[in-house]
Amino acid sequence: MCGIVAYTGDGRAVPYLLDGLARLEYRGYDSAGVAVHSGAGIDVVRRTGKLAALESAAELDALGGTTGIGHTRWATHGKPCDANAHPHVDAARRIALVHNGIIENHHELRAELEAGGVEFGSDTDTEVVAQLIGHLMARDPDLRLADAVRTAAKRLDGAFALAVIAVDDPDLVVGARRAAPLVAGTSGAAGLLASDIPAILAETRDVVVLDDDQVVEVRGPDLVVTDIDGEVVEARRTHITWDLEAAEKGGYETFMLKEIHEQPRVLADTIGGRLDTDTGQLVLDELRTDEHGLKTVDKVFVVACGTSYHSGLVAKYAIEHWARIPVEIDVASEFRYRDPVLDAQTLVIGVSQSGETADTIAACRYAQELKAKVVAVTNVVDSTMAREADAVIYTHAGPEVSVAASKTFTCQIAALDLLALWLAQVRGTLYSSEVATLVDQMHRLPDQVAAVLADLTEVEAEAAVWKDAADAFYLGRGPAFPTALEGALKMKEISYLHAEAYPSGELKHGPLALIDDDVPVVSVVTASKVHAKTLSNVAEVAARGGRIVLVANPGTDFGGIEPDRVFEVPETHELFAPVVDSVVLQVLAYYVATARGCNVDKPRNLAKTVTVE
Ligand code: AGP
Repeated sequence: MCGIVAYTGDGRAVPYLLDGLARLEYRGYDSAGVAVHSGAGIDVVRRTGKLAALESAAELDALGGTTGIGHTRWATHGKPCDANAHPHVDAARRIALVHNGIIENHHELRAELEAGGVEFGSDTDTEVVAQLIGHLMARDPDLRLADAVRTAAKRLDGAFALAVIAVDDPDLVVGARRAAPLVAGTSGAAGLLASDIPAILAETRDVVVLDDDQVVEVRGPDLVVTDIDGEVVEARRTHITWDLEAAEKGGYETFMLKEIHEQPRVLADTIGGRLDTDTGQLVLDELRTDEHGLKTVDKVFVVACGTSYHSGLVAKYAIEHWARIPVEIDVASEFRYRDPVLDAQTLVIGVSQSGETADTIAACRYAQELKAKVVAVTNVVDSTMAREADAVIYTHAGPEVSVAASKTFTCQIAALDLLALWLAQVRGTLYSSEVATLVDQMHRLPDQVAAVLADLTEVEAEAAVWKDAADAFYLGRGPAFPTALEGALKMKEISYLHAEAYPSGELKHGPLALIDDDVPVVSVVTASKVHAKTLSNVAEVAARGGRIVLVANPGTDFGGIEPDRVFEVPETHELFAPVVDSVVLQVLAYYVATARGCNVDKPRNLAKTVTVE
C-alpha cells in the first residue's frame, strides 16, 4: 500500500514530509518522492529504493517551500523506477499529485487525454489523474484546484486517496478519497494530510477521517471538507488513543488480523477493472494481447510452494474446467527433479506472493530452459519472478507483513481464476458473455468476504474449544480440498496445533483410524457438485465421535448430521468459493493461535520469504 503525507504551514515542508514518510515505512514500498511549492513553481524529487535514497538527494536542501506532498510507492502499475515514482505532475507542471489505490479506468482516460495531445512520462495509473486535473485547469484557467479535483474524481473508477498541490495556490493542499484511507489534521499553524494515522500521530491525535467521495481543502490550520459536488459537509473527527505500533496495525492487535480484514479491499483491487466496458471482454492488463501464444498451449503446469501451492490447486480445477487444457501441479521443490515433460507448447504458471521463493524461481528457470512459456502470478512488482517471467499477473494485495499468508492467498485465487477465464476466452472454450457473467460474480466476492468478517462469533467460540486439542483434520472435495489444505496449514503455522487435510473421500482409506471422540474435523461443505458425497464423508466422521465443524452456506440440509459447529458463509461459484470459505479458516487459526499465546505475526522457525532451496 502506498503512503501519502502532505504539509502546509509556516515551517519548511520537507522535514515534515520525510518524517511522515518514515512513519509509513512499515507499509512496504519500492520508491519515494516529494513535491514542494517553491514560490515560483513546484519542485519534485523522486528516488527509487528506500527513503534513505530520497533523504540523501542533494536537491532536497534547496526545497525551502512551506507547502508540499510526499509519497512512498508500492508498485502496482509500472515497475519501480524514478519515472514511475510519485509525485506526478501534469504536462504544464501546473499541479503535483500523489495517489494511493488503483484507478480501474486508467487506460480509457489515458487514451482520451493522449487523443487530446497530452504526452505521458510514466506507465502509472496515477499520472493519468495528474494529467486529467492539469488538463481541466488548462481548459478553464479560472477553475480552482479543489473544483478540478472534484471534477476529475467523478471520472475515476476504482480506489483513490489523493493529495494535490498547485502552482497558482501556494498555501493549499487538496485531498480526496474513495475506498482508500485519507486523514487530515492540524498542528499549530500547519495543516496535515496522510494516508494513515501513524504519519501524523506525532503532530496530532485529533484527526479528520475522510469518507468516500469527500474532498478536503487544507490551508495551514484551516480545513474545509466537502462532498464531491463541492457542498461543505461536517468533518468526521476522531481522537486517536493508539500508540504508534497499534496505529501501524490500523488498530488491530496484529498485522495478520489487519491483513485478514483488508481482504475485501484488496480483492476489489485485484478483481476490479478487468472487464472492458466497451467490448465486454475480460482484459488482463499484463496480457493485453496473446503475444506469448498462450492460445495454443496444449499443457499447463503450476509450480508453487506452501500457501501459493494451495491457490495453484484451485487454478488447476479452474483452467481444466473453463479452458479445457490439462493441468499438472507440482510443489516447486519437486518439479525439476521428476523429469517433467514440457516443451514450447507448455505454459508454466509460477505462483508466489513474494516472487522471491528460491524453489519456485528455480522451477520457472528450469521451465524456460525447456522453452516453456512462464507466467508469474505474484504480489511484488519487479520481483525476481516478475522480471524473469514471460508475462506477469499481479495480485494487488499490498504488502503482507505477517509471515502467514492471508490476503495474498485469496488474491492469488482471484488472479488465477481470472487467468483461467482469460485462457478460456482466448481459446474460445467460453463465450465472452459467459466470461463476463463469471467476472460479474467475482465482483461480489469482496462483499461476501466482508460478510464473513462481519460476524466471527461462532469462529471465536469454536477456537476456545480447540485451545487444548492435539490434532485436527480438514476435509474438502474438488476446489474445497485446497481450502482444507490452506486451513490446515494456517492452523499449523501460527498455532503449532498439528492439523492435516485430506480429500473428503480419502479419510476412510486409513486416516479415519485417527478419529475418536472429540477430535475436531473441519469439513468444507459449501455448494458444489460433490456436496452430497462430502456430507456422507462427514457422516463417517460423526459415527466415530469426531467433533464436526462445517463450513456451509446458509440453509444447507446436513442430511441428519448434527454438527457441533457451523460456520455459515455466503454461497458463490465453487471455483470462487475458496476465496470466501478460506477466510473463516484463517480466522479460526488466528483465534486458536492467540488462545495458545503464539506470536501470530512471527511464528517460530518460519520466514516470510524462503530464499533458500
Ligand atoms: C504461507 O502462510 C507460508 N508463509 C508459506 O507457505 C508461503 O506460502 C510459501 O513460503 C510460498 O511463499 P511465496 O508465495 O512468497 O512463494
